[in-house]
Amino acid sequence: MRRSTLPIHGGSPHAQPGSPVVTPITQSVSFVQELGTAEGLKYGRYGNTPNVELVERRLALLDGGEAAVALSSGMGATACAMLALLRPGDHLLSSSWIYGGTHKLFTQELAGMGIEITLIDPLAPRMWRKALRQTTRAIFVESPVNPTCRVLDLSSLANLAKAEGVALVVDSTFASPINFRPLEHGADVVIHSTTKYLNGHHDVLGGAVIGTASYVEEVRRKMIVWGQAPDPFAVWLLERGMKTLDVRVRRQNENALKLAQWCETRPEFARVLYPGLESHPDHEIAQQCLDGFGGMMAVEVAGGGDAAARFLQHLELVTHAPSLGGVDTLVSEPRYTSHAAMTPEARAEIGIPDGFLRFSVGIEDVGDLIADFEQALR
Ligand SMILES: Cc1ncc(COP(=O)(O)O)c(C=O)c1O
Repeated sequence: MRRSTLPIHGGSPHAQPGSPVVTPITQSVSFVQELGTAEGLKYGRYGNTPNVELVERRLALLDGGEAAVALSSGMGATACAMLALLRPGDHLLSSSWIYGGTHKLFTQELAGMGIEITLIDPLAPRMWRKALRQTTRAIFVESPVNPTCRVLDLSSLANLAKAEGVALVVDSTFASPINFRPLEHGADVVIHSTTKYLNGHHDVLGGAVIGTASYVEEVRRKMIVWGQAPDPFAVWLLERGMKTLDVRVRRQNENALKLAQWCETRPEFARVLYPGLESHPDHEIAQQCLDGFGGMMAVEVAGGGDAAARFLQHLELVTHAPSLGGVDTLVSEPRYTSHAAMTPEARAEIGIPDGFLRFSVGIEDVGDLIADFEQALR
């Protein structure tokens, strides 16, 4: 099956006359067990119920992995993926350009369990090799990066990880498997917050981990004991959302490019960040590794925080809300969301000064989005 067919049919059982076209929701936690054997035990928290198993097969096919496990949130996915790789005394090398929740998980929770963490500035690529230790077990990166839309070159990291025998783990939530499949670029593990593009409707929380069958089984063991399995209805909504993944993402790619190009012509924006623009620092890398530049873009409003606040007050179609990847266009201010815990100076240092706005571009008519920006600027 081709990429656009997989989200609709990938992993489906063969259709029989009389079988429903839409997967029924099996909203049951418990399943009748055979007498005299522990084989085939089904239970909601084990993640082995019908809706979950279908979505897992589909997610594995979409990212080109042997297996996938679906979890109850993106954070649950990252936590279980890392718990399956790291023991107390092990060392994790992570990009410092990561989602705020992931940063907390690594520097507060995993560090508190005796796992050592080194954060690397991806602008200093030689530091990865320098920071490696005998105990390093994994390298973690996010690409494209939240919220700056930077794109990392995986090939050198994949070579390093292979040579050193450590796992390369990539959170590619921002791209979705339509735009980027890290396993094709040498990664060992892919993580998604399925809350975002894969579901695409801002109405369900979920996460996924994709990799080899044996590794995914280890993640599943963590999911079971840490209680991170998804609910059948959430997974049913995810399956329904995924059916339109390809058309949504293609439209979001187109809309974001047009909106970013328009923003670049406006003096009210001091900077526009979108990997599809020639002015983007990673435009060439993005051209090499992405199939589409994505629906995420950011602007820096000239005039800083106050000017950004005025612009936001006047947007009518674009909704001020956290999260991303859905059909509606959303805007958020990292200084009040993912990066609220940092000082303005520290934020500015990592490319998020006050006045920085992140847009998750939806599937509306782009003319309407541009008109909304224009009237709000006016
Ligand atoms: C890149 C990235 N990874 C992971 C997460 C966590 O996902 P969730 O909110 O589904 O737990 C987010 C949430 O915004 C994210 O942006």
